[in-house]
Amino acid sequence: MFHLQKKIIVVTGACGLLGKTFVQAILKQQATVIAADINASLLQALKKEIPSAHLEILELDITSKTSIQTAIEILHEKYGKIDALVNNAYPRNKNYGALLEEVSYSDFCENTNLHLGGYFLCMQQFALYFKKQGYGNVISMSSVYGVIPPRFEVYENAHFTMPVEYAAIKSAVVHLSKYFATYYKQKNIRFNCISPGGIFNNQDKDFVKKYNQLSLNKGMLDKEDIEGALLFLLSDASAYINGQNIVVDDGFSL
Ligand SMILES: NC(=O)c1ccc[n+]([C@@H]2O[C@H](COP(=O)([O-])OP(=O)(O)OC[C@H]3O[C@@H](n4cnc5c(N)ncnc54)[C@H](O)[C@@H]3O)[C@@H](O)[C@H]2O)c1
Repeated sequence: MFHLQKKIIVVTGACGLLGKTFVQAILKQQATVIAADINASLLQALKKEIPSAHLEILELDITSKTSIQTAIEILHEKYGKIDALVNNAYPRNKNYGALLEEVSYSDFCENTNLHLGGYFLCMQQFALYFKKQGYGNVISMSSVYGVIPPRFEVYENAHFTMPVEYAAIKSAVVHLSKYFATYYKQKNIRFNCISPGGIFNNQDKDFVKKYNQLSLNKGMLDKEDIEGALLFLLSDASAYINGQNIVVDDGFSL
């Protein structure tokens, strides 16, 4: 039930922090991974770093309908099927990350369009393919901040904040998945989310200390800590889990 052998799985944003971890975790389960990313040179580097016959790299822009449709056509031609999409890319513009008061209307809209719009477009286009195929599985990355409002005290004195666009996007991704799940009733397509807490990525000590105090056991998680939820949702062991959101945050959201 838990195995992924012979599955064809597309991971967007495959060259990023979580994407690369997901690619490696899925490969260990002997599935074929299509590492899809907008960054061609990072894709080449990924291919060199992970020399597996089951890894395919594919340039893909989640904000372009043509790019997504071309990817689906290429994969269908080569494999005759696609089992799952992991909606994991993280597009943002150069002004992303500003404090609430400094976020312009156009930046708010652009970042929401890129990220939420891109996730929507991938879900819409893959769902059309999955409907024809007779089954499918979409896992979209939300965040603990799609579930609870930011704990702003953690960001005091940090050189970054939790962007307001992120809260809007990530909460919407959870609801969008429920919308798609119910819209495709009787079509055998699943739409679930994973909401990780903060992943340790060399953030400064003070931030990590404050963050960890609000968690239950470990605090900030390692990227590998998210793999289990992903592999479970990709497998047939979760066959009747649909429209749900698995929060992996060491209790930060409690
Ligand atoms: N890192 C965390 O702490 C954390 C926590 C919770 C949720 N998440 C979510 O997990 C997902 C991955 O996050 P990450 O930290 O690994 O991101 P990241 O920034 O490390 O990587 C993002 C990847 O997406 C690619 N990308 C950007 N725009 C794209 C586009 N238009 N089309 C295709 N690919 C594109 C980039 O080239 C990059 O390889 C995101 O949805 C993020 O919100 C991350």
